[in-house]
Amino acid sequence: METAKIIADPEFRIGEVDPRLYGSFIEHLGRAVYNGIYEPGHPTADDMGFRRDVMDIVREVGVPIVRYPGGNFVSGYNWRDGVGPKEKRPRRLDLAWRSLETNEVGTDEFCEWARRVGTEVNMAVNLGTAGIDEARSLVEYCNHPGGSLYSDMRIANGYREPHKIKTWCLGNEMDGPWQMGHKTADEYGRLATETAVAMKWVDPTIELVACGSSHRKMPTFGQWEATVLDHVYQYVDYISLHQYYHKTDNDLGTFLAQTVQMDDFIRSVVSTADYVRAKKGHTKRLYLSFDEWNVWYQNPVDKEIMQKTPWQVAPPLYEAPYTHEDALVVGMMLITLLRNADRVKIACLAQLINTIAPISTVTGGPAWRQATYYPYMHASCYGRGTVLNLQVRTPSYSNKTFDAVPLLDAVAVLDEEHEQMTVFAVNRGQDGALPLEGDLRGIGGYQVLEHITLEHSDPLARNTAEQPNEVVPHTRGDAQLSDGRLTATLPKLSWNVIRLGKNRG
Ligand code: AHR
Repeated sequence: METAKIIADPEFRIGEVDPRLYGSFIEHLGRAVYNGIYEPGHPTADDMGFRRDVMDIVREVGVPIVRYPGGNFVSGYNWRDGVGPKEKRPRRLDLAWRSLETNEVGTDEFCEWARRVGTEVNMAVNLGTAGIDEARSLVEYCNHPGGSLYSDMRIANGYREPHKIKTWCLGNEMDGPWQMGHKTADEYGRLATETAVAMKWVDPTIELVACGSSHRKMPTFGQWEATVLDHVYQYVDYISLHQYYHKTDNDLGTFLAQTVQMDDFIRSVVSTADYVRAKKGHTKRLYLSFDEWNVWYQNPVDKEIMQKTPWQVAPPLYEAPYTHEDALVVGMMLITLLRNADRVKIACLAQLINTIAPISTVTGGPAWRQATYYPYMHASCYGRGTVLNLQVRTPSYSNKTFDAVPLLDAVAVLDEEHEQMTVFAVNRGQDGALPLEGDLRGIGGYQVLEHITLEHSDPLARNTAEQPNEVVPHTRGDAQLSDGRLTATLPKLSWNVIRLGKNRG
């Protein structure tokens, strides 16, 4: 097998990693909230009904920010339903997921959960069935210290201190015909602009995300971003991207190659934002919020639940367990986000618990980690600092869909504060191990701390409640660093985390 080569030098950088790049997402969908984070009868439930076992796993990842409450759900949500005395909260039909929403968990409870796990909230407002008034009132409820209708309502509800939410999404996937209150780009651009202005009048310190396209293959992609930004550019800070991948036709080579398209997607949105900037003469640069990304299989069973037995509270939707090969794609999506860290400042793995999630629970039973949990946790724990402009030369493969797909997908992150550097690397190869050589002479005096590897003889292996440790990483990787020369073997179909640190000896 031909060797893959990398060169990493601290003099050549892409950009700083915003910690929010490792964000996630919890929607009122399936068992994400009810019987996910919140299960009052569970043996580990705390005084508010939050599962402590779930909170412990979320803390292990160090999730910096969580988008809430949707998703498609938010486009029909009235936040007032979810505050105040629980016994007075209405039960509502959630039309997005054909479920029954009890409103037992709302804004205050979620903000309190976030505080308890040590994460921030990224709050989405309803721009589907609601608009400016609901949005500015929610900012007042969450962020205003007191002395006004909504801030005093929050205080009366037991939360004297404001929730201090910094990051806000102006609706969700408003380009999608499936969205309640779906809009044309001009309609959304106008509404987003007026809503942004009112929200920032309430709290000028907040940051706003405008909706980009729901995915790269939307027929309006490109034009949607250009038109929306024509309206809203100067009032927002980020434009969103969403993308889910899945394997089709049992074609693993194509599945693993899709992150090449993700890179192209990001560059296209950057170009569109910069085009509007140039055209309108703005000086401000717009950043990207990739606030929904993951591998997602929509199985017939999920449709059947919504069609044949609708209006259940917390039905088990989108809970298919993830495979080892799904974990590799999640790893490469993380590598892609990191490679674009100069422009992508926020990203949310969609979602966090049970629904399309790296963490799963049994109602009344244990919580466990899916295969996809591991690359997410590794990136969050070891991928903070500065992304280096890694030079990569790698063998490649081609198939009927893709030409010259690199076998090696890799990125290097330097943490100057702790004098550590991490190389994240995936070997896409299905036939054998990939030898890796690195020129790291630019970072003198480092040694290998550990070489973590996630590999499995069966790419379809998965973790379940009964066998939660089928796909787990080991630290038997063979990476070595001597005189600035790195060598390592990347097993076939593997995710690797090569951790280097200053030699203190
Ligand atoms: O994450 C699940 C759904 O996917 C979200 O509700 C929606 O925004 C997207 O289409």
